[in-house]
Amino acid sequence: MAQYDVVIIGGGPGGYNGAIRAGQLGLKTAIVEGRGKLGGTCLNVGCMPSKALLHASEMFEAASGGEFAKLGIEVKPKLNLSQMMAQKAESVEALTKGVEFLMKKNKVDYIKGWGRIDGPGKVVVKAEDGTETVLETKNIVIATGSEPTPLPGVTVDNQRIVDSTGALSLPEAPKSLIVVGAGVIGLELGSVWKRLGAEVTVVEFLDRILPGTDTEVANAFQKILGKQGFKFKLASKVTGAAAGDKQVKLTLEPVAGGDAETLQADYVLVAIGRRPFTQGLGLETVGIVPDKRGVIANDHYKTTAPGVWVIGDVTSGPMLAHKAEDEAVACMELIAGKAGHVNYDIIPGVIYTKPEVATVGKTEEDLKAAGVAYKVGKFPFLANSRAKINHETDGFVKVLADAKTDRILGAHAVGPNVGDMIAEICVAMEFGGSSEDVARTCHPHPTRAEAFRQAAMGVEGWTMQA
Ligand code: FAD
Ligand code: NAI
Repeated sequence: MAQYDVVIIGGGPGGYNGAIRAGQLGLKTAIVEGRGKLGGTCLNVGCMPSKALLHASEMFEAASGGEFAKLGIEVKPKLNLSQMMAQKAESVEALTKGVEFLMKKNKVDYIKGWGRIDGPGKVVVKAEDGTETVLETKNIVIATGSEPTPLPGVTVDNQRIVDSTGALSLPEAPKSLIVVGAGVIGLELGSVWKRLGAEVTVVEFLDRILPGTDTEVANAFQKILGKQGFKFKLASKVTGAAAGDKQVKLTLEPVAGGDAETLQADYVLVAIGRRPFTQGLGLETVGIVPDKRGVIANDHYKTTAPGVWVIGDVTSGPMLAHKAEDEAVACMELIAGKAGHVNYDIIPGVIYTKPEVATVGKTEEDLKAAGVAYKVGKFPFLANSRAKINHETDGFVKVLADAKTDRILGAHAVGPNVGDMIAEICVAMEFGGSSEDVARTCHPHPTRAEAFRQAAMGVEGWTMQA
């Protein structure tokens, strides 16, 4: 029977980053993954394939939607969807192989199959051919991730009614697509198919898009998407869906009550959130009881069962790859007897649309609710020289700082490449930085990053370029 210090169940960003760190720390480690490939949701059916399609569709739209022509580049692009899908699959394959290499490099045993806990210190892995292997271990780390939340009354068949996995591999560019849920997946994958020719209608239960995101940013983003041709049906409740051979009929009614209506589209994407995945995991053998949403609670990654830890989407907090990764590192360091820590106040979130949305820290709504006095600095991309030259002037940056100490409490932006640039604010916040620190840091010119500096200047009222 194999003896380990750590057995990690799940090979996603939580699991594989944890395995790498555990290997580095000299812990004898195994990672168990059932889907046949490492990388989890993120690499196989999440972050990476969606970014591959976002990038390719952005290029296609730039070429076909007038942007190239405006720059003096005249082309007549033709969509080759199977090549677009093939390059996506190729990149994903390379990434998952890369993770496999990193397991070897860090002396981690990669065990293929579905794992289940079988009492304290024991994990049983069932391989594809049905054979079972028993692993004995001092520590079990649950990193089993999440799955799409089902929508009552709507059956996802991944033919006409799809979840995110189906929407990453549609066999054709639809003429029309209805997205249920104005969250991150809906707006990213809605953007992909919009750019490739679909009329996109987004149906959302709440009266706004992107709940939890700074409201000013979310409202501005909705207007930008509206200009791009997105249609929104907010405060609407889906009551049923009937899939035919070629189309889906979706019935909805206003949440506040009123007349029902029927929408019709080639495809419907259901993206109303994700829920923790713990099926067949044997939690009962160690007395772990998830809450009613399926979340396994943790205290510094420890579950209620001694020697059993939990990280990533399957536990509390935002369902993001970098959050899973940071928890993985902290968890392994704690297992190794070191100090492991994640700063949950500084977990950025990015929506990789065009323009991008990026946020970190507290929103204005959070600060108002907590009664914190704050100052705001804002800068529009319309006044940023690089954005202007590139014809990418939609959006703005907003920096929020403590009214007394000037410490940065949050930053929220919609605009070109803000997803990369928010990292600057994350670093400043980790160092307890003030808006003045960012404002007085020399930024290269001409860059879009200057918009963050100008917004930071605005906190003390000395924005110079607007
Ligand atoms: P997962 O990545 O879900 O990995 C868990 C793994 O465990 C899976 O591979 C599963 O097969 C395996 N597993 C489960 N049970 C068992 C078992 N019993 N035995 C063996 N193996 C098991 N996040 C971002 O930060 N940025 C993005 O751009 C982004 N884009 C996304 C786009 C889409 C379409 C989706 C769906 C998600 C996206 N996410 C993104 C979220 C991100 O994918 C998750 O937050 C991240 O993958 C969570 O990592 P994890 O390791 O906790 O779980
Ligand atoms: P989400 O939580 O972002 O959005 C779901 C949306 O659906 C919300 O606006 C919600 O109000 C709405 N909704 C819920 N029930 C509904 C109903 N019955 N009818 C209509 N609308 C309803 O979830 P999403 O988009 O499914 O993404 C899941 C997770 O994946 C997110 O937690 C996100 O963090 C992660 N993700 C991250 C990405 C990124 O970082 N760029 C990209 C894609 C996903």
